Amino acid sequence: MDFALTEEQGLLRDTMREFVSREISPEAGELDRLSQFPSRAIQRLAELGLLGMAIPEAFGGAGLDTLGSAVAIEEIARGSASLAVTVSVTNSVCAGPIVHFGNEDQRRRYLPRLAKGEILGGFSLTEPDSGSDAAHLRTRASLEGDTYLLTGDKAWVSNVQVGHVFVVLAATRPEQGSHGLTAFLVERDFPGFSFGKVEDKMGLRSSLTGSLELQDCRVPVANRLGEEGQGFKIAMATLDGARIGIAAQAVGIARGALQESIAFARQRKAFGRPICQFQAIQFMLADMATAIDAARLLVHRAAHLRDRGDVQFTKEASMAKLFATEMVNRVAYQAVQIHGAYGYSREYPVERYYRDARVTTIYEGTSEIQRLVIARRLLESV
Ligand code: CAA
Repeated sequence: MDFALTEEQGLLRDTMREFVSREISPEAGELDRLSQFPSRAIQRLAELGLLGMAIPEAFGGAGLDTLGSAVAIEEIARGSASLAVTVSVTNSVCAGPIVHFGNEDQRRRYLPRLAKGEILGGFSLTEPDSGSDAAHLRTRASLEGDTYLLTGDKAWVSNVQVGHVFVVLAATRPEQGSHGLTAFLVERDFPGFSFGKVEDKMGLRSSLTGSLELQDCRVPVANRLGEEGQGFKIAMATLDGARIGIAAQAVGIARGALQESIAFARQRKAFGRPICQFQAIQFMLADMATAIDAARLLVHRAAHLRDRGDVQFTKEASMAKLFATEMVNRVAYQAVQIHGAYGYSREYPVERYYRDARVTTIYEGTSEIQRLVIARRLLESV
């Protein structure tokens, strides 16, 4: 068993680490305070070819495999979890399904522009009344000639306002439940499309999350992704891969929290010595580091299985997401604890890490949904 990254992946990690320390981390706190979208960082990542990290080279992307993408997302999240989710979403739940389920025309129309960072993408499954129970959404799509008319409200969509194209799930045959859903590539300029409210979130404050309002939104048949009725399976398969990205994001946030904690514990004095000399602090640091490494191993295993291409990885992706996202909440909690009252102040990055960590057990499938997915696979295999 080889736990080492390849030379190429190691180089990617080192390059990203240096880039994030130099260009992302210094501005992340201020952008969070101002709830400002990191446009400059997005531009820089585009120049590095990383906005299309998972897009094949034939379409202008970096052509990274899942493991390479996980390495990059972890590094970005260490500096800015908001930036990491923006990049992860546009790659894994927008470009990803176009790569895997799109036809040649759709790939040619969208992938090169996504890869260059000319446009960003998003994914829209959730609605005000359907989150975990994804099959029972209310948005309807009906075919009229060569155009589908989509009507419904979508909620909690990442990259609203800045996104250009969204993978939208709608029911073409509502009576057929999960078998009646269809996926569409919906552009912001299509008639009947508008952005709704932008959420005022607890964390990830420099990423944009909000609603889409579709009112007889006109989507050409050429923008149907896959066949009618395939939408649920496309969404689930997409989320299988994307959950690895969210798990990597969690590992990155946790690493940031640990690094800040080590630095703080070295310089903060109590009872006449640096607090890192107290066993209570050392044990917390040791537990944090161990949990982070365990989570990363699960992330890399899931990524490795996905990259093999010939095995099921749904359970392993859910395990990585479940473990890593629960882990980052514990680690961020401990980081604040080590900082004491300073950890409760916006002056210190751990306060941001603590808020940013919270959503990871919720989006792209709650921890409860991950347990359900894992348990179903376990019971099927016996
Ligand atoms: N890959 C391919 N097909 C799959 C699949 C997978 N991973 N999982 C299920 N399917 C198929 C099943 O095989 C089944 O097919 P058949 O009927 O032909 O046998 C069909 O889909 C229905 O499956 P289930 O009966 O398991 O469906 P369910 O209604 O019980 O739902 C669920 C399963 C796991 C609860 C699912 O609804 C789910 O994952 N919910 C959570 C949704 C989610 O993660 N939402 C987050 C949205 S994205 C986001 O967070 C915003 C953002 O931008 C960050």
